[in-house]
Amino acid sequence: LIGRLNHVAIVVPDLEEAAALYREALGATVSDPQPLPEHGVTTVFVELVNARIELLHPLGEASPVKNFLTRNPLGGVHHVCYEVKDIIAAREQLKGRGARVLGDGKPKEGAHGKLVLFLHPKDFCGTLIELEESDHGS
Ligand code: CO
Repeated sequence: LIGRLNHVAIVVPDLEEAAALYREALGATVSDPQPLPEHGVTTVFVELVNARIELLHPLGEASPVKNFLTRNPLGGVHHVCYEVKDIIAAREQLKGRGARVLGDGKPKEGAHGKLVLFLHPKDFCGTLIELEESDHGS
């Protein structure tokens, strides 16, 4: 069902500090911060050869990662994103196995303009999973 790993998202308490850590200590290519008000986050993209890391920081009071940062003040891995070829087919297959899709279950446009949805962490080893529709999915 899943194809490539698209990204791992890490919530951080200080975006500038985290970007500098990835750029200087780890020697990665790091983007400028991009505010995504419709997603309630500011993001720094770390480009790797085979995937990317998204450093997330809450933006606005209704940010979906605000509580996460309260619970994890040092930051931490928030979700992993796998690519699927057909997001509706993937959703139906997973729902058929009893997996819970978050929200209203309808795919939404994610940070990269592709359709995404999220799967309940209690159904997947305590890990929040994002599925993203992509030609590289399987
Ligand atoms: Co994501």
